[in-house]
Amino acid sequence: MTNDLISTARAGLSRPATVIAAAPGRVNLIGEHIDYCDGFVMPFAIDRYIVIAAAKNNSTQARLSSAGLPDALIDLSVPQMISEPHWSNYVRGVIDGFQKLGHEIPGFDACFASSVPGGAGLSSSAALECATATLLEGLLGISLTKKQKALLCQKAEHDFAKVPCGIMDQFASTFGEENRLVMIDCQSEEVTLVPFENPDLAVIIANTNVHHQLSDGGYAIRRRHTEEALAAIGHASWRTVTMADVENHGDALGDLVKRRARHVVTEIARTQAAAEALAAGDFLQLGRLMDASHISLRDDFEVSCTELDLMVSIAQQIGRAGGVLGARMTGGGFGGSTVTLCENAQAESIITTMRTAYREATQIEPEIFSSRPSRGAHLVLPG
Ligand code: GLA
Repeated sequence: MTNDLISTARAGLSRPATVIAAAPGRVNLIGEHIDYCDGFVMPFAIDRYIVIAAAKNNSTQARLSSAGLPDALIDLSVPQMISEPHWSNYVRGVIDGFQKLGHEIPGFDACFASSVPGGAGLSSSAALECATATLLEGLLGISLTKKQKALLCQKAEHDFAKVPCGIMDQFASTFGEENRLVMIDCQSEEVTLVPFENPDLAVIIANTNVHHQLSDGGYAIRRRHTEEALAAIGHASWRTVTMADVENHGDALGDLVKRRARHVVTEIARTQAAAEALAAGDFLQLGRLMDASHISLRDDFEVSCTELDLMVSIAQQIGRAGGVLGARMTGGGFGGSTVTLCENAQAESIITTMRTAYREATQIEPEIFSSRPSRGAHLVLPG
């Protein structure tokens, strides 16, 4: 994490900070749109953070500021409600979670600084929630378990941002560690930190800088389709559903919902295969599984878009010869970012090629960078 971000957050506060919290965004290598289907996911925390510098202010109000965003005032003496400005709702939701645990939150001033691109499918909202929860731990002098904290933040997203998300983003932001993937079994909610430190490999994140309006409703609709499919198939969990089950219920599901179901079943299998490939050090296979995941998200789950498909295909056309092992869209979709697994030695030239080709085809300037797995939410001060 850059010290610049910490300095920016400190500088925006009118008094010396006594607590500073940081939480990262995430990228997902594989296991997309199956965290709410009892699947497995394989994200990691990226080296992009939201940092909050804060100090108590002897009042019953939280006074929040962030460069470029409207200030927010939150009354801590009453139950929390959705309010303006929009960005404050992530903070309100987390405050609500702590209050419901019985904590009395002291008034504080806080300044937020971020290097997580917003609306890019890299979980800036989870970073904001997890940074806020970590800040409140620091202000209250308490610690939740990582799981408790991640689930509290997920609930904030459900109740205050009205997005019925799964557990992946908040778990990745909370459990992330340097050089580790955060493999999550979304049925048992168990986390396994999987080493990912091969210096010959790099992960490139390419933000297309488009965010289609469909995104908000589209996510909830996809989730509903999977619930309808599971009910029609008659299983308690996707974990036991096979492609034969999907085929056998084809008539009841109808073409559209059947394709949604096929994505879920095949993506769970791909993610399990990816874990095996990783354990065997077979990165070529991991790359092939990422390519296949994109096709499934594009054709069966229909959460990709022209710009994501283009960015993925630019990377895939560079191919093995140019050091690319695999590429896919990452996150919720309908815009946002792609993730490319590649040889570290070629990463810079791959980034240049992707940027130039995407810009020429779309006239849109993308944001492309590589990131290694990084540390999850933590207190910078007191350290
Ligand atoms: C968003 C949600 C996650 C997950 C992904 C898709 O990021 O917040 O819970 O469902 O989309 O994999």
